[in-house]
Amino acid sequence: MREKQFNAAITGLGMYVPDKIYDNAYFEKIVDTSDEWIRTRTGIKERRILENGGTSVLATKAAEDLLKSKKMSAEEIDVIIVATVTPDMFFPATACLVQHNIGAKNAWGFDLSAACSGFLFGYQTACSFVESGDYKKVLLIGADKMSSITDYSDRNNCILFGDAGAAVLIEPTEDKNYGLQNSLLKIDGSGLDYLHMKGGGSLNPPTHETVDKNMHIIYQEGKAVFKFAVKGMADISYEIMKKNNLTADDIAYLVPHQANLRIIGATAERMGISMDKVMINIDKYGNTTAATIPSCLVEYYRSGKLKKGDKLILASFGAGWTWGACYLIWSME
Ligand code: COA
Repeated sequence: MREKQFNAAITGLGMYVPDKIYDNAYFEKIVDTSDEWIRTRTGIKERRILENGGTSVLATKAAEDLLKSKKMSAEEIDVIIVATVTPDMFFPATACLVQHNIGAKNAWGFDLSAACSGFLFGYQTACSFVESGDYKKVLLIGADKMSSITDYSDRNNCILFGDAGAAVLIEPTEDKNYGLQNSLLKIDGSGLDYLHMKGGGSLNPPTHETVDKNMHIIYQEGKAVFKFAVKGMADISYEIMKKNNLTADDIAYLVPHQANLRIIGATAERMGISMDKVMINIDKYGNTTAATIPSCLVEYYRSGKLKKGDKLILASFGAGWTWGACYLIWSME
């Protein structure tokens, strides 16, 4: 195994959400539901919807926001990783579209598919590139246009999802007290039955029949996913605390994937962390898949709540199954 040369720290942030809002009142008009049901069962009040363009729009605008706030040129970027399950197209990769849009002419890159764990898996990957000393500036973007695969006639699912993109820059630091400390990441393909998209891939290429059978949308057995998520995310978050000898008092924030406020609450409870130490933005955006965790980081940092030296646990779960937790120490002033 190659020696770790550096620690990898987040040194830049950006995000983008579209202006168009679907609030709970909108869903009361299109399906048999109520604001009260949605808020109490999920914690969601509204979501953002991208009307024109694909996920590359969300990813590009998040990257541009990062570059602007960091006052850096796109030409400095070595690698672009886009975590997404809603790429503009199967190929080319959305990372290529972003590279072209922002003019990152010295970068290579790729898309990473791990559903709602996409950001965490991308974070570990990006950090490994930097820790090895091979690359100095890795742009990691979590972006999903979930509205493009959501069936707006199915009340079980349509209330849950929204569109967003968020980006982080990862760079080396000599100070081992900052950046990613370690991660626990897992996959288990037995989750296939409960959460997937049936059509469009090589198993069921698009045909009139796949369209007629409504196979190009999220298929989800909500209850089964809920059970897995509560156990998977709570267990692994607890495990990473133990692995690092952390108590709840040591942790400044839990940064969980935002799929359902009740799942987040169960994870916090298992860790012994009070809800005021949990980053939450599900109320404003719903489940934006790969964008939930980085958008929380951006918003809490920009509002002054996330500070240098804060110890964070990032935690996720998603289709696959995919799940995991990362322990990091925040380094941005
Ligand atoms: N409005 C009103 N009623 C609804 C509804 C809605 N939007 N959606 C479902 N219901 C109904 C169901 O039809 C069911 O009615 P029934 O008892 O007459 O059959 C009832 O509410 C309870 O459904 P249930 O599925 O038990 O609700 P729940 O408490 O499990 O909540 C989810 C449903 C989808 C919100 C919840 O299971 C969940 O969040 N699952 C995880 C989803 C997830 O995280 N996905 C992303 C993974 S990354």
